[in-house]
This record gives sequence, structure tokens and C-alpha cells, in this order.
Amino acid sequence: VKDWNGIDQIVLKVPSGASARVSLHGGQLISWRNEKGEELLFTSSKAIFKPPKAMRGGIPICFPQFGNCGTLEQHGFARNRIWSIDKDLLPLNTNSKVECGMAAVNLILKPTDDDLRSWPHCFEFRLRITLSMEGHLSITSRVRNVDGKAFSFSFAYHTYLSVSDISEVRIEGLETLDYLDNLSQKERFTEQGDAITFESEVDRVYVRSPNVIAVLDHEKKRTFLIRKDGLPDTVVWNPWEKKSRLMADLGDEEYKQMLCVDAAAIEKPITLKPNEEWTGRLELSSVPSTCCHDH
Ligand code: BG6
Repeated sequence: VKDWNGIDQIVLKVPSGASARVSLHGGQLISWRNEKGEELLFTSSKAIFKPPKAMRGGIPICFPQFGNCGTLEQHGFARNRIWSIDKDLLPLNTNSKVECGMAAVNLILKPTDDDLRSWPHCFEFRLRITLSMEGHLSITSRVRNVDGKAFSFSFAYHTYLSVSDISEVRIEGLETLDYLDNLSQKERFTEQGDAITFESEVDRVYVRSPNVIAVLDHEKKRTFLIRKDGLPDTVVWNPWEKKSRLMADLGDEEYKQMLCVDAAAIEKPITLKPNEEWTGRLELSSVPSTCCHDH
């Protein structure tokens, strides 16, 4: 299907009723629904679905830079580019394929001449998004160095989870870890106490985090399970009240309904020699809290 700017979106659907929607703008996941049709990713009511910025919500891809600590635009250019369907891996003229009850799409991004001027490294970025029979989402990124020299990059799946109320949410799996705090010049702290809960702005990079993290939503009685691979760090971000008011594409109160928990590689950038390839994988599932993590 096309969005109102004429940019293609790919809809993945499985027989259980679960679905996902991916935009070629940024290769961004813009919707993920469970079998009941409930939306699991947050999208701002003020989101702007128009290049050259990524829309506020879903899962924008931050590459080849996370944040603003490099020479590139905030979070890199990948989220602002128009990706292509990777036809090499797909039957001709099909946007998605259904195989054993699962749906998948493969996208590809190569640098434009402009990108090469700001980041002079030839790469091929292949993105595969699949929705399993049970409605679990999996996103695999493969970045290949097709240049004559090595390059380094940082990366994040900037995942906007939809939550009932931020004050009802907690994260398990990050306790006792070190984090870099973006709110105090990236100073390093160690997380104390139990699971992480929210009562003010948070903007942190938890380093060397475990490969499974749980986000528990008490009110919705729902737990997001985040599984990652090749992505050592986890970003936790909520802009809270003051920062939200400064963001044109986020409603003043909407910070209560969102929480970003990003599988990422930030502290130690990934380095690829010529012809080397890196893989970073994210798996998201949403399960009723009573079945595993509820306390
Ligand atoms: C987070 C960063 O991941 O993304 C924040 O840690 C930043 O510092 C936020 O504000 C949103 O970034 P953007 O560019 O999408 O507004």
C-alpha cells in the first residue's frame, strides 16, 4: 500500500490476526498488532509522516550513528532515507511472502552520493522483518562493508513501546548494570536497586546488558519480551513532561503512553573490515503478564 506521500508501506499479516506494517521511509516499523488487533507500538498523534524526518513512533533505525555524538545528523541518516525492497531474496513482484504461516519482507539500503559525502563508506544494509505465526516480531539487520577500507558505526532499534501509563511500568533485566547518562554529559553510573521504574525524564545507555529484557505493564497486564543478539547495549528513554512540550511531534501528555527501550550497539562501535558483515537481531513478543513475569 502507499501512504499519503506516495511512499510504499508493506503490510505483514498472519492467519492468527496479528499484523505489522513497515514503511520504505527509513525501513521503519510503524505498526505491530497482536491477534486481538491491539497496537503494541506507540505512534504520536502529532507524528509527521513525511521525509526528511523519521516519524515519532514505531521502530526507527539509528544508523550509522546513535544520538548526536558524531558528525552526522541526530541518529544517522538511515531513518530518513527511502529504502528499497530487496528483490534478490524475494520472488519477483511480491512485497512479502507467507511461508509456514509467517510473513516476511526484505529491504535494502545503499548510501546515496550525499550520504557518501557526509559518511564516506560504502555499505549494504539488509533488513529482514518477519512476523511469526504467533505474532512475534523479529528484525534482523545485516550491514556489509563493500568498501576498500574499514569503517565503524553505532546502531539502535529505537523501539517505541506502547504502554498504559509510564508510572505503571517497570523494566527487568537492567538492574545492577552500568549506564551512561545522557542527562549528565554521558557520565557513567551503576544502577542500584530493583527493577527500573519511572518518575522523571530518563535518557540512558545501559552497557553490556543481558540478551533478554522484560518490560512489564501492570495496568495492561502485558509483558514485552525483548530478545537481542549482536547488540550489547540497551537505551531507555522517556522525555517526560518538560522535554515533551519542546517536541513539536509529540503531544504534551503522550510521554505517559510511551517508553523507548532500544537494543543497541553504542558504547563500543561496530568495526567492519572490507567484505565483513555484522548482524544485529531484535525479537519482540508481547505476552500476558500472568504467564511469566508478574510479581
Ligand atoms: C533517544 C535519545 O534515544 O532519542 C534522546 O537518547 C533523544 O536523547 C531521543 O532525544 C529522540 O530523538 P529524535 O531525534 O528522534 O527526536
